[in-house]
Amino acid sequence: MRIAVIGGGLMGSGIAEVCARAGVDVTVVESDAERAGRTRAAIERSLDRAVRKGKLTPEDQSTTLERLAVSDSLDDIAGADAAIEAIVEDESAKRMLFKRLDQLLPDAQWLATNTSSVPIMKLAAETSKPDRVIGLHFFNPVPVLPLVEIVRSIMTAPATVDLARTFAEDTLGKQCIDSQDRAGFVVNALLIPYLLSSIRMYESGFASKEDIDQGMVLGCAHPMGPLALADLIGLDTLQAVATSLYDEFRDPASVAPPLLNRMVEAGLLGRKSGRGFYDYTAAAS
Ligand code: 3HC
Repeated sequence: MRIAVIGGGLMGSGIAEVCARAGVDVTVVESDAERAGRTRAAIERSLDRAVRKGKLTPEDQSTTLERLAVSDSLDDIAGADAAIEAIVEDESAKRMLFKRLDQLLPDAQWLATNTSSVPIMKLAAETSKPDRVIGLHFFNPVPVLPLVEIVRSIMTAPATVDLARTFAEDTLGKQCIDSQDRAGFVVNALLIPYLLSSIRMYESGFASKEDIDQGMVLGCAHPMGPLALADLIGLDTLQAVATSLYDEFRDPASVAPPLLNRMVEAGLLGRKSGRGFYDYTAAAS
């Protein structure tokens, strides 16, 4: 089987890695050669870490890398059996991409999006076969977290759901839950208002960022606190998901707080930019 993964950022590279490690041939596409290089380097680093931790043998690392092609041209996905879109959380960019995928992959079994919040139907509506479009929503870090949300639009065919579920569960070894096609799906509809309230709490001076995070780690046994998690997700992604949730439900709990907006404008995007609520520059060097 050959899968096309469009977008090689945090999520796309994780998805590509998990696919290649599961024995699937993968073509990852990025928008230019420099980004494609960064994607390959990120996957190689992650595989090196798996080898260091004894989770992958050096032989399996080589075969995994042989299954992986990273390209800066969408034309290279021709002939793929299925596709997973993981580009930036921007509705119009995703819509344009689904129009292209529909043309480039007329025979693909399914076309999936890893969107965090854009309704699947909006993307399916750009294609000639909306019945083969589905949401497969992975969680960051993709190699670590077992969940995939399966999101069907009102037009997704039952056969598409079966094929995508078999791929996620049997091929990738993930565990799936089903969600209706509503902004945020199950997990982000619950998680994002929580993260936004932690930012409001910090912004208001109610508690320090360290105490907010410690509170949820020590008091609720979360693996990390909400502000550290916001940094892991990426503050631009968090802002985009909040906007989609607010557009759909008009719930004030989903309004991006001013501090989040200012941080995104300042380029303080969390771990991926080296600084968000916390500073990661020392850890990276
Ligand atoms: N890639 C691969 N493996 C990774 C990794 C990465 N990026 N980050 C951590 N790991 C592995 C480590 O190798 C380690 O494996 P081991 O236990 O076999 O040695 C294990 O994960 C634990 O890592 P660490 O010891 O380095 O660090 P922690 O114990 O602090 O765990 C964490 C880090 C896995 C990130 C953990 O804190 C966690 O699970 N946090 C919550 C993450 C979360 O909630 N994600 C969901 C975000 S929402 C989302 O993605 C949806 C989107 O639409 C917004």
